[in-house]
Amino acid sequence: MSQSFAIQLDNVSKTFGRRRKRVEAVRQLSLEVSAGQVFGFLGPNGAGKSTTIRMMMDLIRPSTGSVYLYGRSVQNNPSLMRRVGALVEGAAFYDFLTGRKNLEILARTGDCYNPDQIQNLLVQVGMADRADRRVQGYSTGMKQRLGLAAALLNDPDLVILDEPTNGLDPAGIQDVRHFIRDLAEKQGKTVFLSSHLLSEVEQVCDQVAIIHNGRLVQTGKVADLLSAQAIVRLEVTPADRAMGLLLPRWGVTENGRWLEVQAAREDVPEMVQRLVAAEVQIFQVMVQQQSLEALFLAATAVDQPQPSSEATAHA
Ligand SMILES: Nc1ncnc2c1ncn2[C@@H]1O[C@H](COP(=O)(O)OP(=O)(O)OP(=O)(O)O)[C@@H](O)[C@H]1O
Ligand SMILES: [Mg+2]
Repeated sequence: MSQSFAIQLDNVSKTFGRRRKRVEAVRQLSLEVSAGQVFGFLGPNGAGKSTTIRMMMDLIRPSTGSVYLYGRSVQNNPSLMRRVGALVEGAAFYDFLTGRKNLEILARTGDCYNPDQIQNLLVQVGMADRADRRVQGYSTGMKQRLGLAAALLNDPDLVILDEPTNGLDPAGIQDVRHFIRDLAEKQGKTVFLSSHLLSEVEQVCDQVAIIHNGRLVQTGKVADLLSAQAIVRLEVTPADRAMGLLLPRWGVTENGRWLEVQAAREDVPEMVQRLVAAEVQIFQVMVQQQSLEALFLAATAVDQPQPSSEATAHA
């Protein structure tokens, strides 16, 4: 396995339970995350994001397939986790201790205690002025910020964040977005984050993968995914002849005086050539990029959860 990838999933599946209770949480998932990227892992509730993240951290084992970090299998390689920092669902702290004390304990346990670094991290996540209050008085967002600081205590190369902006207000979301970009751009870290906040992923991630029902449905650079699924709006005469010319190749619908063609941005020159060659008159061409949200909804609308064959057999 290649060392240039921070993360590689090779045909990973995870099944929980047996017979009627069998859940295929992750199915034949293969992914590669290059070092130095911010990689977004998108999917609706129950898609398998947290299960995948737990397999990356070797907290649970894949049913089949393998997970590699920096070219080494996570199984039987506990020292690999020194290069990894993570915020997993529901970070747990000692309620009766202060935020700072919690970080100190975690740092000592991880053998990376450094009070200056803790203070720095508290500043970076916007918790410096609340660090000496007990965690029991913290809001969800404050705990989440503390969790982010905790994920960075060991100065990891790879930062894995499960829903990092959970519970944060809009200003907090923006802070964390900048914080994540800085981790990659200024500190050279690789960040893998899961989210269903599409605007966040769109703005912060170099590359994304969309999963649904445990399966990979789309992966690529955000800009490429979006330009591959554009809507090209054409004002042409005669519209019916234009439609006949375009239809064999692209999906076309008529909307008032516009033809709306589902195509990649790169297809536009070919589209125009075809129309001009057939003496169709073109008055306007507009390329409308879909939002990542529309792409996400389209990608996750199909393939509704199917009961596994075993469950059906016993139903
Ligand atoms: N320990 C477990 N035992 C049984 N089923 C589980 C277990 N953990 C997860 N699952 C199931 O696996 C599927 C994927 O769950 P997972 O938590 O990975 O989804 P998710 O994408 O993180 O969702 P969310 O966005 O809600 O956090 C769900 O159907 C869930 O019920
Ligand atoms: Mg989850």
